[in-house]
Amino acid sequence: MLAKLSLEQKIEMLGGVDSMFTHAEPSIDLPRFKMSDASVGVRTWGPTTAYAGGAALAATWDREFARKLGESLGRDARARSVNFLLGPGVNIARSPISGRNFEYLSEDPFLNSVLVVPYIEGVQSQGVIATVKHYALNDQEYNRHNASSDIDERTIREIYLPAFEAAVTKGHVDAVMNSYNLINGVHATQNDFLNLKVLKGEWGFQGILMSDWDSTYDSVGAANNGLDLEMPSPRFMNSKGLLDAVKAGTVKESTIDEKVLRLLRTALRYGFMDRPQFDPADSTYSVADRAIALDGALESLTLLKNDGGLLPLNPSKIKTIAIIGPNAWPAVTGGGGSSDAQAFEPVSILTGIANQVGPNAHVLYSRGLPEMNDIFRNTHWDGPIKVANYPSRDFTGTPELTTTPSVGDLRRERRGPREDNRSSVRYTASYKADKDGKYLLLAASQSWGSDFKVLADGTELATPPHVEGQVPPFWTLDLKAGQTINVEADYIAGFNGVHFGLGIAYEPDLVSEEAKKLAAVADIVVVAAGFDHSTESEGSDRTFALPWGQDALIEAVAAANPHTIITVTGGGGLDTRRWLDKVPALLHAYYPGQEGGTAVAEVLFGKHNPEGKLPFSFDRSWEENPSFAWYYPVKDADTSLHVTEPGRDPVDYVVPHVKYGDGLLVGYRYWTTTGKHPLYPFGFGLSYTTFSFSKLEAPASAASGSTIPVSFNVTNTGSVAGAEVAQLYVSDPSAKATRPERELKGFEKVRLAPGETKRVTIQLDARAFSYWDETKHNWTIDPGKFVIRVGDSSENTPLSAEVTLK
Ligand code: BGC
Repeated sequence: MLAKLSLEQKIEMLGGVDSMFTHAEPSIDLPRFKMSDASVGVRTWGPTTAYAGGAALAATWDREFARKLGESLGRDARARSVNFLLGPGVNIARSPISGRNFEYLSEDPFLNSVLVVPYIEGVQSQGVIATVKHYALNDQEYNRHNASSDIDERTIREIYLPAFEAAVTKGHVDAVMNSYNLINGVHATQNDFLNLKVLKGEWGFQGILMSDWDSTYDSVGAANNGLDLEMPSPRFMNSKGLLDAVKAGTVKESTIDEKVLRLLRTALRYGFMDRPQFDPADSTYSVADRAIALDGALESLTLLKNDGGLLPLNPSKIKTIAIIGPNAWPAVTGGGGSSDAQAFEPVSILTGIANQVGPNAHVLYSRGLPEMNDIFRNTHWDGPIKVANYPSRDFTGTPELTTTPSVGDLRRERRGPREDNRSSVRYTASYKADKDGKYLLLAASQSWGSDFKVLADGTELATPPHVEGQVPPFWTLDLKAGQTINVEADYIAGFNGVHFGLGIAYEPDLVSEEAKKLAAVADIVVVAAGFDHSTESEGSDRTFALPWGQDALIEAVAAANPHTIITVTGGGGLDTRRWLDKVPALLHAYYPGQEGGTAVAEVLFGKHNPEGKLPFSFDRSWEENPSFAWYYPVKDADTSLHVTEPGRDPVDYVVPHVKYGDGLLVGYRYWTTTGKHPLYPFGFGLSYTTFSFSKLEAPASAASGSTIPVSFNVTNTGSVAGAEVAQLYVSDPSAKATRPERELKGFEKVRLAPGETKRVTIQLDARAFSYWDETKHNWTIDPGKFVIRVGDSSENTPLSAEVTLK
């Protein structure tokens, strides 16, 4: 097939078509191949089954569930004629504010590596190519296209690459997607170290390395450094960029051939040329898939607090239950961005609980907080707002001056050419507080390409400059009755006009009187709080604080009713400081997919015993997270990048550098090494039963490099059936190199009837004891003493044994 193609035809095959297809080549009867996002549902081609994927999958700690999820996604893909599933995402959840954690798995490389393998095998067993992404170090959305993740080799090998390595060497994934960011100053799509040395060299990857959508920056650089397919269209890997380069010898024709061969070989191996990808044996809507979506949600929900055994609730004792909060209805199934799947019939927490309590209990509902536009419309500014509308994007020229009683034009955007809009608007307003207390200052824009900053009494509230990926802003101001503040907002209109809102609200007034009233009369209240697809999304980071008003809502409801249960939706930890000690129960729901409401109800009412375990350390504050000091680019370390897209004028980019100074101490590695404690440790999750661990057996000594069996018992010591995740951590106190205090190297989910005991055996291979030696550039074991610990979280490990490796 390759021999039949001209150089031009071969180059054409290196770029995507119509956003989600590979290029067809009729002269060799090669059809185009279809792609779809991604980790939580086959979402690109219409409504679909939305599963508990990403962080929720990690919270199940269940290999078999990962396989079932992969198989279901594979079947859903076949039913939609999809050849490539653009998932799973396996980047490390380094920081709670990173906008895509919910799509990824966990903070731990071992947990990610174990789950990614059956997931990929499941997808690919259905004749669909899985695409592991984003290779590598896309651990933040802040300035994701331009920022460079600067990191040392040991940290990248031990923390950020293992899940990709397992996907390739154990899961035999057939596609990999590069990330947007640069790594040590070089874009992923032209990164020799990542793509050629490690992926295709050491790991022997035989499949297709594709770019993320518009993450390619250089024709020759990408062609020579491992990229096989530029998505979604060939802006760089095209004839203009490569034909002359091949003729001049800067790119070898054999390099182009190799890329084409990867696509052809993979397509042939999957039988894409011999059979239709549509499989009528699969369903676009399937009851079996719904059951798997429910299983995932049930297995992932993580109970973090249950004071006084408030849970499980007894339906016969509840006459009235109030379900309050913005995430109660409609259902919040997933976060935002390219993974956002439209589920056929998502079950909200309100519906799930109503179904559970049945017709004899009263179910009360209140959203509890206003919609954002209501705040903009109803702000009582102290006099009219001055509006200066400039005919430029930088507040120059003669402005048109008007006034307005409120700023709140957030109508839905329509995209238009950039040239359509050349305005910048300065709003000047003053606000007089009539009570002492906390006030919410909210600003939002809905026009793509827009930008703004807000000043209160002359002080800028957002960190300048506002760039893609910055946390969506809302601020809390402490004001005294009678105090006046001057607010100025500088807004640069987006591609489709002015869509900007600005408002202030007295926080206690945000919470509706109705919500407080319902809370007071109910026997039990569930506040469904957390993030959703507008507040936690690809393309921007999120706040550590709950979205605006939710802290105040929880405080008000908890003050009205002591039996208040909080459920939170989100891809990681969040700020609970204002209310955690005032509520008896907290359930983390991650993004539970379309059956989330049913699962939450089944857990609250004890129909399902909670079994999820945190896949991240739950911090008290963003500031105490180990990456906090290292998250944003280092000041004044910018470099510049000169990019020439074939046929266009060159563009200069500023490359800010994010130094991964937290090194190996990500998540629980930091907490256990420093001896400090997060709010809830990695691996933690409560159950309605209790478990004990006993009879740890491990060889006292063994040859370095051998596989070592470790066995122990897990017993259900309580009165209901349940599942425990036994976690095994290895410490290396005699290592020559400095190592994290402990690292997860094995786990097993065990289902046990009351009183039942199971013996678990975990095999620890050489890698479980190794670290990356920076001088040898290889994995190494320092012979000597190792400690093996077993328990139910990174901090509670009641069993331990010493093993000496010789
Ligand atoms: C995302 C990818 C996704 C692609 C296609 C990009 O914006 O980063 O994860 O697969 O879009 O939708």
